[in-house]
Amino acid sequence: MAASEKTLTIDNNTTNEGWTVVIPRRGKQRRKATKHGVLEEKHEPWTPTDSQTDPSKEALLMQKMKRSIDRIENSEFYHTLRDQVQTSIVDYINMVLGSEINMQMVIYGIGSIEIYEIPRLQLSLALLMRRDFDWIGNIEVFDPILSATECRVFEALGCSVMSKNEHGRREALKPTMFFMPHCEAELYNNLLQANWKLDLLKNIVLFGNSFETYEQNASLCKNSPILNSMGHIFAARGFTNAFRIQVVSDDYYFAFHDSSWHFFSPGLETELQFINP
Ligand SMILES: C[S@@+](CC[C@H](N)C(=O)[O-])C[C@H]1O[C@@H](n2cnc3c(N)ncnc32)[C@H](O)[C@@H]1O
Repeated sequence: MAASEKTLTIDNNTTNEGWTVVIPRRGKQRRKATKHGVLEEKHEPWTPTDSQTDPSKEALLMQKMKRSIDRIENSEFYHTLRDQVQTSIVDYINMVLGSEINMQMVIYGIGSIEIYEIPRLQLSLALLMRRDFDWIGNIEVFDPILSATECRVFEALGCSVMSKNEHGRREALKPTMFFMPHCEAELYNNLLQANWKLDLLKNIVLFGNSFETYEQNASLCKNSPILNSMGHIFAARGFTNAFRIQVVSDDYYFAFHDSSWHFFSPGLETELQFINP
């Protein structure tokens, strides 16, 4: 799998100067946090959390993103991850791709890139992977907490922002990479549940919290209600190939610890039975 010719350009002037984007204010009643912290939207479509952005905020955020991308790009962490993909992961990627040339990346639960460094580091990794791996195509992003400024910057970075909350339930009708670092377990479970068929699961590449760790921790919190919303995660373990990433340096621990690549290959329909809705 050759490194692609794609480039990653960050242009601090990508955002137009001298005007303000006004986005309709969203109804307060639309958001509700469930007991597990995953936001359930009552009404679609989704719009950003604030109503306005301006070029100076966007330019500032672009600068922060540029610094973050530079940092990841030059890190041993990224070089190790890139090597891992090109050696251990590539065969699984090719299996998911089948006859397709590339796959879309869907990013759920990135968090606020304006406020926090961890989401900026995670997004930087996704952007660098898109630049360096020719099997990654377009990027779509969604997190219900995104601001108008963040949405503008995502677009300037060549990512599209979804206009509705899918609650993680995108059906993988074609090969799709889901980039979900440190999301709530319920969101991974929703993704698996929506794709709980032989011909959909095989289309998924999932980068996210290690399912193995979820299973290990489950025995420590046997009576926790969160376990009720993790049935598909546990049921998938039997047909999941997982590869942990190496964080390499403490600098990247908080952004990427306990993250794994997951590939799903149930052989028989019977492996998908006996799961509660
Ligand atoms: C634990 S935080 C992780 C944020 C960030 N990735 C990090 O590691 O700091 C989980 C994120 O998932 C987001 N989230 C909740 N419901 C979601 C949904 N339906 N679709 C996408 N993201 C969602 C939350 O808003 C939050 O930003």
